Amino acid sequence: MELVPLGPGFGVEVKGVSLLDVAVDAEAYKAVRAAFETHSLLVFRNQTIADDIQVAYSRAFGPLELTKLASVGANSFYSRLTNVGSQGEIVPLDHRQVLVAKANALWHTDSSFKKTPALASVLTARVLPGEDGDTEFTSTRLAWERLPADLQARLKDAVATHSYANSRDQIHPDLANAEERKALPPVRWRLNWRNPSNDRRALYVASHAYAIDGMDDRDARQLLAQLLDEATRQEFVYTHKWRTGDAVMWDNRAMLHRGRPWDYTKERSMVRTTISATDADGLGEVKPPVLH
Ligand code: OGA
Ligand code: MN
Repeated sequence: MELVPLGPGFGVEVKGVSLLDVAVDAEAYKAVRAAFETHSLLVFRNQTIADDIQVAYSRAFGPLELTKLASVGANSFYSRLTNVGSQGEIVPLDHRQVLVAKANALWHTDSSFKKTPALASVLTARVLPGEDGDTEFTSTRLAWERLPADLQARLKDAVATHSYANSRDQIHPDLANAEERKALPPVRWRLNWRNPSNDRRALYVASHAYAIDGMDDRDARQLLAQLLDEATRQEFVYTHKWRTGDAVMWDNRAMLHRGRPWDYTKERSMVRTTISATDADGLGEVKPPVLH
Protein backbone atom coordinates (compact mmCIF):
# COMPACT_ATOMS: atom_id res chain seq x y z
CA MET A 1 0.00 0.00 0.00
CA GLU A 2 1.20 3.48 -0.88
CA LEU A 3 -0.23 6.70 0.59
CA VAL A 4 0.07 9.90 -1.45
CA PRO A 5 -0.63 13.14 0.51
CA LEU A 6 -3.51 15.24 -0.83
CA GLY A 7 -4.74 18.07 1.38
CA PRO A 8 -3.21 20.68 3.69
CA GLY A 9 -2.14 18.38 6.55
CA PHE A 10 -4.75 15.67 6.01
CA GLY A 11 -6.01 13.30 3.34
CA VAL A 12 -4.20 10.69 1.25
CA GLU A 13 -4.74 8.80 -1.95
CA VAL A 14 -4.53 5.07 -1.22
CA LYS A 15 -2.71 3.12 -3.91
CA GLY A 16 -2.11 -0.59 -4.20
CA VAL A 17 -5.14 -1.61 -2.13
CA SER A 18 -8.68 -1.76 -3.53
CA LEU A 19 -12.09 -1.50 -1.86
CA LEU A 20 -12.53 -5.22 -2.44
CA ASP A 21 -9.15 -6.05 -0.83
CA VAL A 22 -10.29 -4.29 2.35
CA ALA A 23 -13.59 -6.21 2.30
CA VAL A 24 -11.96 -9.65 2.09
CA ASP A 25 -8.48 -9.32 3.60
CA ALA A 26 -7.97 -8.53 7.31
CA GLU A 27 -4.41 -7.27 6.72
CA ALA A 28 -5.54 -4.85 4.02
CA TYR A 29 -8.31 -3.65 6.35
CA LYS A 30 -5.82 -3.08 9.17
CA ALA A 31 -3.54 -1.00 6.99
CA VAL A 32 -6.38 1.11 5.58
CA ARG A 33 -7.94 1.53 9.02
CA ALA A 34 -4.64 2.87 10.35
CA ALA A 35 -4.43 5.31 7.42
CA PHE A 36 -8.00 6.42 8.14
CA GLU A 37 -7.24 7.11 11.82
CA THR A 38 -4.14 9.13 10.90
CA HIS A 39 -5.17 10.97 7.73
CA SER A 40 -8.98 11.35 8.16
CA LEU A 41 -9.67 11.33 4.41
CA LEU A 42 -8.92 8.49 1.99
CA VAL A 43 -9.27 8.65 -1.78
CA PHE A 44 -9.33 5.50 -3.91
CA ARG A 45 -9.14 5.98 -7.69
CA ASN A 46 -9.99 3.64 -10.57
CA GLN A 47 -12.14 1.32 -8.50
CA THR A 48 -14.80 -1.08 -9.63
CA ILE A 49 -17.78 0.76 -8.19
CA ALA A 50 -20.87 -1.26 -7.29
CA ASP A 51 -23.34 -1.22 -4.41
CA ASP A 52 -22.32 -4.60 -3.00
CA ILE A 53 -18.59 -3.80 -3.10
CA GLN A 54 -19.23 -0.48 -1.39
CA VAL A 55 -21.24 -2.13 1.39
CA ALA A 56 -18.71 -4.94 1.84
CA TYR A 57 -15.90 -2.37 2.16
CA SER A 58 -17.87 -0.15 4.54
CA ARG A 59 -18.98 -3.04 6.77
CA ALA A 60 -15.37 -3.85 7.60
CA PHE A 61 -15.22 -0.58 9.62
CA GLY A 62 -18.33 -1.13 11.76
CA PRO A 63 -22.12 -1.21 11.77
CA LEU A 64 -23.84 0.58 8.89
CA GLU A 65 -26.46 3.27 9.22
CA LEU A 66 -29.89 2.87 7.70
CA THR A 67 -30.83 5.75 5.42
CA LYS A 68 -33.42 8.23 6.73
CA LEU A 69 -37.07 7.69 5.82
CA ALA A 70 -37.59 10.68 3.50
CA SER A 71 -34.32 10.18 1.57
CA VAL A 72 -33.78 8.40 -1.74
CA GLY A 73 -32.70 4.89 -0.77
CA ALA A 74 -34.67 5.10 2.51
CA ASN A 75 -34.30 2.29 5.03
CA SER A 76 -31.41 0.66 3.16
CA PHE A 77 -27.65 1.01 3.60
CA TYR A 78 -27.50 3.37 0.62
CA SER A 79 -28.06 7.12 0.48
CA ARG A 80 -28.58 7.97 -3.17
CA LEU A 81 -27.63 11.57 -3.81
CA THR A 82 -29.02 12.29 -7.23
CA ASN A 83 -30.96 14.87 -9.20
CA VAL A 84 -32.60 12.10 -11.23
CA GLY A 85 -36.16 11.18 -10.27
CA SER A 86 -37.92 7.83 -10.11
CA GLN A 87 -38.87 7.97 -13.83
CA GLY A 88 -35.29 8.62 -14.91
CA GLU A 89 -35.95 12.34 -15.45
CA ILE A 90 -33.74 15.22 -14.29
CA VAL A 91 -35.79 16.78 -11.50
CA PRO A 92 -36.75 20.49 -11.63
CA LEU A 93 -34.61 23.06 -9.81
CA ASP A 94 -37.10 23.51 -6.96
CA HIS A 95 -37.34 19.73 -6.38
CA ARG A 96 -36.55 18.30 -2.98
CA GLN A 97 -33.57 16.35 -4.40
CA VAL A 98 -31.94 19.60 -5.57
CA LEU A 99 -32.67 21.21 -2.22
CA VAL A 100 -30.98 18.23 -0.55
CA ALA A 101 -27.89 18.94 -2.68
CA LYS A 102 -28.04 22.57 -1.57
CA ALA A 103 -28.25 21.53 2.09
CA ASN A 104 -25.19 19.32 1.52
CA ALA A 105 -23.42 22.46 0.33
CA LEU A 106 -23.41 23.77 3.92
CA TRP A 107 -20.29 22.72 5.85
CA HIS A 108 -21.27 19.70 7.90
CA THR A 109 -20.31 16.36 9.33
CA ASP A 110 -22.68 13.50 8.53
CA SER A 111 -25.31 12.37 11.02
CA SER A 112 -24.32 14.55 13.97
CA PHE A 113 -28.10 15.04 14.27
CA LYS A 114 -28.75 11.33 14.81
CA LYS A 115 -28.95 9.50 18.15
CA THR A 116 -25.90 7.58 17.00
CA PRO A 117 -23.59 9.79 14.98
CA ALA A 118 -21.37 8.55 12.18
CA LEU A 119 -17.81 7.32 12.37
CA ALA A 120 -17.23 7.55 8.64
CA SER A 121 -18.87 7.99 5.27
CA VAL A 122 -17.96 6.35 1.98
CA LEU A 123 -19.02 8.22 -1.15
CA THR A 124 -18.73 6.89 -4.70
CA ALA A 125 -19.29 8.66 -8.00
CA ARG A 126 -21.81 6.98 -10.31
CA VAL A 127 -22.69 9.68 -12.86
CA LEU A 128 -20.80 12.98 -12.96
CA PRO A 129 -22.02 16.24 -14.51
CA GLY A 130 -18.84 16.85 -16.53
CA GLU A 131 -17.66 19.83 -14.52
CA ASP A 132 -18.22 21.28 -11.04
CA GLY A 133 -19.98 19.34 -8.29
CA ASP A 134 -16.68 18.97 -6.41
CA THR A 135 -16.66 18.01 -2.73
CA GLU A 136 -14.59 20.04 -0.26
CA PHE A 137 -13.04 18.83 2.99
CA THR A 138 -11.33 20.41 5.96
CA SER A 139 -9.79 18.94 9.09
CA THR A 140 -11.50 19.80 12.37
CA ARG A 141 -8.59 18.10 14.13
CA LEU A 142 -6.24 20.74 12.77
CA ALA A 143 -8.91 23.39 13.45
CA TRP A 144 -9.01 22.30 17.10
CA GLU A 145 -5.23 22.38 17.32
CA ARG A 146 -5.18 25.94 15.93
CA LEU A 147 -7.53 27.25 18.62
CA PRO A 148 -5.96 29.39 21.34
CA ALA A 149 -5.36 27.40 24.55
CA ASP A 150 -7.94 29.38 26.56
CA LEU A 151 -10.67 28.71 24.00
CA GLN A 152 -9.72 25.02 23.87
CA ALA A 153 -10.03 24.89 27.67
CA ARG A 154 -13.43 26.60 27.51
CA LEU A 155 -14.71 24.25 24.80
CA LYS A 156 -13.25 21.02 26.11
CA ASP A 157 -16.38 20.06 28.04
CA ALA A 158 -18.82 22.39 26.27
CA VAL A 159 -21.92 20.70 24.85
CA ALA A 160 -23.68 21.75 21.65
CA THR A 161 -27.12 20.85 20.35
CA HIS A 162 -27.50 19.54 16.80
CA SER A 163 -30.64 19.01 14.76
CA TYR A 164 -31.45 18.02 11.22
CA ALA A 165 -34.06 20.78 11.02
CA ASN A 166 -31.46 23.44 11.87
CA SER A 167 -29.47 22.80 8.69
CA ARG A 168 -32.49 22.12 6.43
CA ASP A 169 -34.27 25.30 7.59
CA GLN A 170 -31.33 27.31 6.25
CA ILE A 171 -32.29 26.09 2.74
CA HIS A 172 -36.09 25.82 2.74
CA PRO A 173 -38.73 25.68 5.52
CA ASP A 174 -40.32 22.52 4.06
CA LEU A 175 -37.11 20.59 3.40
CA ALA A 176 -37.33 18.79 6.73
CA ASN A 177 -40.90 17.49 6.75
CA ALA A 178 -43.03 16.91 9.84
CA GLU A 179 -42.25 13.19 9.90
CA GLU A 180 -38.49 13.82 9.81
CA ARG A 181 -38.67 16.51 12.49
CA LYS A 182 -40.47 14.05 14.75
CA ALA A 183 -38.08 11.20 13.99
CA LEU A 184 -34.98 13.37 14.49
CA PRO A 185 -35.30 15.42 17.69
CA PRO A 186 -32.29 17.55 18.74
CA VAL A 187 -29.29 15.72 20.21
CA ARG A 188 -26.38 17.03 22.30
CA TRP A 189 -22.67 16.32 21.84
CA ARG A 190 -19.44 17.61 23.27
CA LEU A 191 -17.87 20.23 21.04
CA ASN A 192 -14.83 18.05 20.52
CA TRP A 193 -14.25 14.40 19.80
CA ARG A 194 -11.14 12.62 21.01
CA ASN A 195 -9.92 9.83 18.78
CA PRO A 196 -9.09 6.97 21.19
CA SER A 197 -6.53 5.48 18.78
CA ASN A 198 -4.24 8.53 18.81
CA ASP A 199 -5.64 10.87 21.51
CA ARG A 200 -6.05 13.71 19.05
CA ARG A 201 -9.10 15.89 19.56
CA ALA A 202 -11.18 17.43 16.80
CA LEU A 203 -13.70 20.22 16.93
CA TYR A 204 -17.17 18.70 16.56
CA VAL A 205 -19.35 21.31 14.86
CA ALA A 206 -21.59 21.35 11.79
CA SER A 207 -24.40 23.21 10.04
CA HIS A 208 -26.64 21.06 12.26
CA ALA A 209 -25.33 22.68 15.50
CA TYR A 210 -27.06 25.73 16.96
CA ALA A 211 -26.88 25.98 20.76
CA ILE A 212 -24.34 25.55 23.53
CA ASP A 213 -25.33 24.57 27.07
CA GLY A 214 -25.18 27.49 29.52
CA MET A 215 -24.76 30.08 26.79
CA ASP A 216 -27.12 32.68 25.41
CA ASP A 217 -28.50 31.35 22.08
CA ARG A 218 -27.36 34.32 20.02
CA ASP A 219 -23.86 34.19 21.47
CA ALA A 220 -23.74 30.43 20.86
CA ARG A 221 -24.79 30.80 17.22
CA GLN A 222 -22.17 33.47 16.77
CA LEU A 223 -19.44 31.35 18.35
CA LEU A 224 -20.42 28.28 16.30
CA ALA A 225 -20.38 30.37 13.11
CA GLN A 226 -16.93 31.72 14.01
CA LEU A 227 -15.61 28.22 14.70
CA LEU A 228 -16.97 27.00 11.36
CA ASP A 229 -15.53 30.01 9.49
CA GLU A 230 -12.12 29.56 11.02
CA ALA A 231 -12.07 25.79 10.41
CA THR A 232 -13.03 26.17 6.76
CA ARG A 233 -10.74 28.99 5.62
CA GLN A 234 -9.76 28.34 2.02
CA GLU A 235 -6.11 27.56 2.80
CA PHE A 236 -7.22 24.66 5.01
CA VAL A 237 -9.50 23.08 2.39
CA TYR A 238 -8.92 20.13 0.05
CA THR A 239 -11.16 20.13 -3.02
CA HIS A 240 -11.94 16.72 -4.44
CA LYS A 241 -12.51 16.79 -8.20
CA TRP A 242 -14.45 13.64 -8.95
CA ARG A 243 -13.55 11.14 -11.63
CA THR A 244 -15.46 8.03 -12.59
CA GLY A 245 -14.16 5.15 -10.44
CA ASP A 246 -13.51 7.32 -7.37
CA ALA A 247 -14.41 6.27 -3.85
CA VAL A 248 -13.78 8.71 -1.01
CA MET A 249 -13.97 7.91 2.69
CA TRP A 250 -13.83 10.45 5.50
CA ASP A 251 -13.77 10.45 9.28
CA ASN A 252 -16.88 12.29 10.47
CA ARG A 253 -15.26 12.75 13.88
CA ALA A 254 -12.47 14.86 12.39
CA MET A 255 -13.65 16.33 9.07
CA LEU A 256 -16.12 18.86 7.78
CA HIS A 257 -17.25 18.54 4.17
CA ARG A 258 -19.57 20.22 1.72
CA GLY A 259 -20.75 19.56 -1.80
CA ARG A 260 -20.25 22.31 -4.37
CA PRO A 261 -22.93 23.38 -6.85
CA TRP A 262 -23.08 22.24 -10.46
CA ASP A 263 -25.40 22.79 -13.41
CA TYR A 264 -28.46 21.08 -11.92
CA THR A 265 -29.88 20.41 -15.39
CA LYS A 266 -27.14 17.76 -15.72
CA GLU A 267 -27.14 14.47 -13.87
CA ARG A 268 -24.95 14.01 -10.81
CA SER A 269 -25.52 10.72 -8.99
CA MET A 270 -23.50 9.58 -6.00
CA VAL A 271 -23.98 6.78 -3.48
CA ARG A 272 -23.06 7.05 0.17
CA THR A 273 -22.74 4.39 2.80
CA THR A 274 -22.30 5.48 6.40
CA ILE A 275 -20.65 3.69 9.30
CA SER A 276 -22.05 4.35 12.78
CA ALA A 277 -19.73 5.34 15.62
CA THR A 278 -19.36 2.93 18.52
CA ASP A 279 -17.72 3.31 21.93
CA ALA A 280 -14.51 1.93 20.42
CA ASP A 281 -14.51 5.06 18.24
CA GLY A 282 -14.80 7.36 21.27
CA LEU A 283 -18.57 7.83 21.08
CA GLY A 284 -19.02 7.52 24.85
CA GLU A 285 -16.80 10.54 25.46
CA VAL A 286 -18.77 12.74 23.09
CA LYS A 287 -21.92 12.16 25.11
CA PRO A 288 -22.32 14.75 27.85
CA PRO A 289 -22.76 13.56 31.43
CA VAL A 290 -26.40 12.76 32.21
CA LEU A 291 -27.96 15.51 34.33
CA HIS A 292 -30.21 14.44 37.22
C1 OGA B 1 -22.50 13.40 1.56
C2 OGA B 1 -22.32 14.77 1.08
C3 OGA B 1 -21.61 16.06 -0.84
C4 OGA B 1 -21.45 15.82 -2.28
O1 OGA B 1 -22.54 12.48 0.74
O2 OGA B 1 -22.58 13.21 2.77
O3 OGA B 1 -22.39 15.70 1.84
O4 OGA B 1 -20.58 16.48 -2.88
N1 OGA B 1 -22.02 14.87 -0.22
O5 OGA B 1 -22.19 15.01 -2.85
MN1 MN C 1 -22.55 14.88 3.93
